[in-house]
Amino acid sequence: VIPVVAIDGPSGAGKSTVARGAAEMLGLPVLDTGAMYRAVTLAVLEQGADPHDARRCSTIARDVALHLEDGVIVLDGRDVSAEIRGPEVTRAVSTVSAHPEVRAELVARQRAWVDEHGAGVVEGRDIGTVVFPEAAVKVFLTASEHERARRRQRDESDAERDVALEEVREELERRDRADSTRPVSPLAAADDAVVLDTTDLAVADIVTRIVDRYRQATEHVPDGPGASERS
Ligand code: DC
Repeated sequence: VIPVVAIDGPSGAGKSTVARGAAEMLGLPVLDTGAMYRAVTLAVLEQGADPHDARRCSTIARDVALHLEDGVIVLDGRDVSAEIRGPEVTRAVSTVSAHPEVRAELVARQRAWVDEHGAGVVEGRDIGTVVFPEAAVKVFLTASEHERARRRQRDESDAERDVALEEVREELERRDRADSTRPVSPLAAADDAVVLDTTDLAVADIVTRIVDRYRQATEHVPDGPGASERS
């Protein structure tokens, strides 16, 4: 068991909200792996590369400098936290993230991030299945399609982009289909993941369940919580 909370699920399932809540209660940092795929996609688009070009995309994934800390993502020295949420990146990110070489590079960086931080809450699509199969806690979040579209639309309007619900819903469906059917590391719940539907569950309840499970699972992990009290 490694001191990681793995949170997977489709877009709009509430991963970021739940990840932040659990991280705060556990005093752990959060890694948003979707932001990493988005940042590489932004670099691909800015360099005028074709998102379908696996070689170009993987070279770019290897060459970019990426720093993620406290919800801020820095790409080659520039804060791109807002830009990576834009419509161009959202449209192309499933294509870029389907290339196995791009995934291999980012998975290596995700593991290095956890090594460096010692522990963390990591959210994405393949965290419990591929990146950290030994995670102390694995959660797979879902929500009804309507609810997920509604949440995404709210994110858009928070960023001052007004998009019709139907449009958000179509984009979301397209992306989820692409992410779930790609040959390499598709979006999926690990066999031992706790599957939670967030449509009607309170965030606080989900967070409490995760925190309890994490504390139980890491009681005897050398670097887990309580390690300093024990030694
Ligand atoms: O979580 P998000 O919507 O910001 O993620 C953007 C895209 O990145 C998502 O459509 C698929 C990809 N992704 C992935 O392939 N694997 C991950 N672990 C996280 C995200």
